[in-house]
Amino acid sequence: MKKIMITGALGQIGSELTVKLREIYGSNNVLATDIRKTESTVVNSGPFELLDVLEADRMYTLAKDFGADTMIHMAALLSATAEAKPLLAWNLNMGGLVNALETSRDLGLQLFSPSSIGAFGPSTPKQNTPQDTLQRPTTMYGVNKVAGELLCDYYFEKFGVDTRGVRFPGLISYDTPPGGGTTDYAVDIYYKALEQGKYTSYIKQGTYMDMMYMPDALQAIVDLMEADGSKLIHRNAFNVTAMSFEPEQIAVSIRKHIPNFELSYDVDPIRQAIADSWPNAIDASAAKDEWDFKAQYDLDTMTKDMLEKLSLKLNKND
Ligand code: SER
Repeated sequence: MKKIMITGALGQIGSELTVKLREIYGSNNVLATDIRKTESTVVNSGPFELLDVLEADRMYTLAKDFGADTMIHMAALLSATAEAKPLLAWNLNMGGLVNALETSRDLGLQLFSPSSIGAFGPSTPKQNTPQDTLQRPTTMYGVNKVAGELLCDYYFEKFGVDTRGVRFPGLISYDTPPGGGTTDYAVDIYYKALEQGKYTSYIKQGTYMDMMYMPDALQAIVDLMEADGSKLIHRNAFNVTAMSFEPEQIAVSIRKHIPNFELSYDVDPIRQAIADSWPNAIDASAAKDEWDFKAQYDLDTMTKDMLEKLSLKLNKND
């Protein structure tokens, strides 16, 4: 990775990934693109272009003119939004990926495309979910992710495009809030803990999902993209995770810092059904074996850092 173009650079992952990649590879070597433009670090700290990922010609031209050797394709709808607007999700999630694959094929780019724990479904083993297992998701987001994984592997096998991906769990960060995901509760809970001392969870007590703190997720992308391709047995996409918990366990972790924190429940049946169709805890051993994946943060170290950073951010905004 030397000249990198990112799509969806103002999204939940892109906004932090762009900054990290600019620190590593140099600001002028990372072209951020998004469908909108905001007053933000991403827009102000290096090259930025407006891009709707459904515009194939513009995507190709931007990558070519920039001299990109890598594409990181982040523009997509998350699970709950995709469930509310399934046709839009199909068109955007698949259409954007096809354009990224075609651009990568034409220009010889390395391509990263994220998959998700959403690529699993109710018939997948829930505990210690293997790398290679049944994938029959029941959500539109999951259908997009499985189709995307297969398509990326197809472009590698058929056209030699160096496609790589991970199945991200819920990602937690103090920077850009997620939008329209099922795991978003695990971010909201920290904001509400600091702002109100209490939180009402739309996910039911006892619902386990995999999660990861954003710094570990960003490092995983860099490590996978830098890994020796000849050592990769899998490509699209590797299970990665740092922890698995249910809502009560975050509450316990938060109470170590905010003793009176209260957690209550008002379950959203749509997002609960999505969560129930996903694994409880996935096995990341293929990622560890093939490219040395590691996560630094567990629930308590993440909670401490999250509360510290978020309280600085919220106080600044007062
Ligand atoms: N965090 C995502 C979501 O909830 C999962 O990939 O949609």
